[in-house]
Amino acid sequence: MAATRRPGRNHLFVPGPTNIPDRVMRAMMVQSEDHRSVDFPSLTKPLFEDTKKVFGSTEGTIFLFPASGTGIWESALTNTLARGDKVLTSRYGQFSHLWIDMAQRLGLDVIVQEEEWGTGAKPEKIEEALRADKNHEIKAVMVVHNETATGVTSNIGAVRKAIDAASHPAMLFVDGVSSIGSLPFYADEWKVDCAIAGSQKGLMLPAGLGVICVSQKALKAAEGQSGRNDRLARVYFDWEDHKKQNPSGYFPYTPPLPLLYGLREALACLFEEGLENVYHRHAVLGEATRQAVAAWGLKTCAKSPEWNSDTVTAILAPEGVDAAKIIKHAYVRYNLALGAGLSQVAGKVFRIGHVGDLNELSLLGAIAGAEMSLLDNGVNVTPGSGVAAASSYLRENPLSKS
Ligand SMILES: Cc1ncc(COP(=O)(O)O)c(C=O)c1O
Repeated sequence: MAATRRPGRNHLFVPGPTNIPDRVMRAMMVQSEDHRSVDFPSLTKPLFEDTKKVFGSTEGTIFLFPASGTGIWESALTNTLARGDKVLTSRYGQFSHLWIDMAQRLGLDVIVQEEEWGTGAKPEKIEEALRADKNHEIKAVMVVHNETATGVTSNIGAVRKAIDAASHPAMLFVDGVSSIGSLPFYADEWKVDCAIAGSQKGLMLPAGLGVICVSQKALKAAEGQSGRNDRLARVYFDWEDHKKQNPSGYFPYTPPLPLLYGLREALACLFEEGLENVYHRHAVLGEATRQAVAAWGLKTCAKSPEWNSDTVTAILAPEGVDAAKIIKHAYVRYNLALGAGLSQVAGKVFRIGHVGDLNELSLLGAIAGAEMSLLDNGVNVTPGSGVAAASSYLRENPLSKS
């Protein structure tokens, strides 16, 4: 049977992949090129410098991989750590869980602080664990900045302070897959040793380009692994191969050319708007979404305002209502893609992604669609209440600061 045609645009409100600006799509429509030509570095060399800006870094080194965020997790761990090394981390959602699982499968000794889903990393507990580690066996602290599964943002500045307060030399690895390019991120100021991003969220590109911003300290740690028998195996993600080629604008293997052109254009979009404006826009759209949720009489998965994420809101369906049905109905009936609940919160939450290229009216479309799907599924919300609350807030709070 042929698939049903759904007229009009699909409203993509999963928290990544996100909507791609038209000009970025056009920039990616390119003929193939020789990536070893004399012209190629004029595209790539500025990219390494410009990409740093979205990480809040001037001192870091950018590596670009044909990969998704998961590959970049692996890149951070395998370049800097050896088998059996201790790493400290917290689990509070599906993505922190998956990164822990990877670290364990790679043969690291992972110390996990279990946190309630809907909360995030606890700097005071991290400090306590580091203070107790008198012999400095913990080599890295891993934190997911924005837990996309639960709509929770952790305070990376506070985690940095905790590490410093414990006078501990551990590296700081931060997953910024659903924060970088949308939420304030200051890799230099927070002394983040590996900051990890994927192309399909704040960078407004298709999936397929993994980005890491690496500190001098992490580069040294990677060099220190050379020649060790217990070093973790790394081949495709080995920074050494990239370090030999990138400074002259080349890659150790065939780079995904359209994504590089797309990245150039996406960065131009972000810089034209101004990063501070981009962060402000996400804060306003995030708050507007939460106002709608409150007007519906529903609760977010984030347990208290300190955890609220400005890129994704995970909304708890009322007792007895299957959130998966709300999502399916929104898609089939209204051509609206909402984010599913993952693992522990499957069937319990639906997510509205408000990340990337969007504005007031696009968000209001998603809120209207979610509201209609809630009503169609028998949830007792006042028709129009979410849209009214969000639109009042948006009228009072312009998206642009300047
Ligand atoms: C916070 C976070 N980390 C990691 C990942 C995994 O990234 P990818 O799906 O690009 O491999 C995701 C994906 O959504 C994510 O949201």
